[in-house]
Amino acid sequence: MEKITVVGSGYVGLVSGTCFSEIGNRVICCDVDPFKIAMLRKGEIPIYEPGLKELVKKNVDADRLFFTSEIGDAIEASDIIYIAVGTPMGDNGEADMRYVHEVARTIGKHLNSYKIIVNKSTVPVGTGEQVRQIIMENRKNRFVQFDVVSNPEFLREGSAIEDCMNMERAVIGATSDKAAKRIADLHAPFRTRIFQTNLESAEMIKYAANAFLATKISFINGIANVCERVGADVTSVAAGMGLDSRIGAKFLQAGIGYGGSCFPKDTFALSYIAEEAGFDFSLLKSVIAANDEQRLVVVDKLKQALGCLEGKKIGVLGLAFKPNTDDMRYAPSLTIIPELVRLGAYVRAYDPIAMQAARNQIAEYYEDFETLEEALEGCDACLILTEWSEIVEMDLARVKQLLTAPIIVDGRNCFSVREMKEREFVYYSVGRPAVTTGSANASAAKTVSL
Ligand code: UDX
Repeated sequence: MEKITVVGSGYVGLVSGTCFSEIGNRVICCDVDPFKIAMLRKGEIPIYEPGLKELVKKNVDADRLFFTSEIGDAIEASDIIYIAVGTPMGDNGEADMRYVHEVARTIGKHLNSYKIIVNKSTVPVGTGEQVRQIIMENRKNRFVQFDVVSNPEFLREGSAIEDCMNMERAVIGATSDKAAKRIADLHAPFRTRIFQTNLESAEMIKYAANAFLATKISFINGIANVCERVGADVTSVAAGMGLDSRIGAKFLQAGIGYGGSCFPKDTFALSYIAEEAGFDFSLLKSVIAANDEQRLVVVDKLKQALGCLEGKKIGVLGLAFKPNTDDMRYAPSLTIIPELVRLGAYVRAYDPIAMQAARNQIAEYYEDFETLEEALEGCDACLILTEWSEIVEMDLARVKQLLTAPIIVDGRNCFSVREMKEREFVYYSVGRPAVTTGSANASAAKTVSL
């Protein structure tokens, strides 16, 4: 059993802290935000993440998981300190390190015994060394020793608990073998592969992994755009490519581009790191540019389907950047909806979970509705932006009745082209043949000939 403090109770901190307590450690999760801590103490979870609430409750009840905003006290009471604070995007795309540096100062001031300081936040190469320097400068007793470790996080929102409890690998970069071994031992109950390296390489692995995954997505989106023009089907192409174990089948789903808290931020940050180091990472810059362009491809498809968007009602389904999360950070909907409005469309939107989070960002652009059916009622076309299961499983016959014309533009390839043809929808998806002739439901109030 280790005594662990996790500084920063956001996504990464809260999930990792909870999972460390689940495997038997005593964990204190801290945050500077007293409201967040008050909520957590009441068993309320500030983010939507399946399974997290139950796991927090279980470990709080077992007296293994605690919450506080007294960060100094928590540090003094622990032997392993995880830094899991945010590294938001700065003005030039660089990672803003102010919160990490602030935590390092606090750790220095409260270094009352040997401790291992572990960085979980995604940080530029060299941050571990900076953290070490800051702690040295701030520690009151220069005889108290410490080690710095980089142990980046790879969990995905929406399946964070699952990803953490069954992690594929733990990357550990450390300033001493003793510290590396202790962090490796901490991970033993996860029964995962341990990959040990130096601090700098561990820091780089996180950026390289995220940038590579983002590249896979922009690449398959580019292939999808070609497929549409030459009559191929990107889902078959991706499946065929994925059978080559050097390529792998995962992360080859064409769509409207990546969003979320990691890929956009980390690709920009890596591009900035490369620039600073004297390398123009043009491939990565193209990945970022292609992702921006991909968001607007669905808008072009709506234009193709409707002629022009002026005065048209568009029912947008899904606002979050992906299913099973209420996270709106860099969600494609944030770009697509304002663009529809700029082109004169009127947007009615629905998301099963992210409605409030979306309202906080772009409320002025659309009207939102409590149900999928209400959002689609009387719309000229339906636009799918997130593949929530409720949307994938929606009753298509009913959708046809609700729309004034049976038009669906699907940014996530939720339905089979054959089914949409059989159901006589006009159906545009990504990287697959478009179905351009449809017929309105006989019982629909208005009939359209297409
Ligand atoms: C990602 C990484 O997967 C995780 O390892 C890292 O630690 C944080 O960033 P997350 O942002 O939660 O996790 O979501 P993920 O499921 O990876 O999806 C990211 C984005 O890529 C989403 O917008 C998703 O819609 C998109 N995506 C993903 C695709 O467009 N196609 C794919 O094949 C996969």
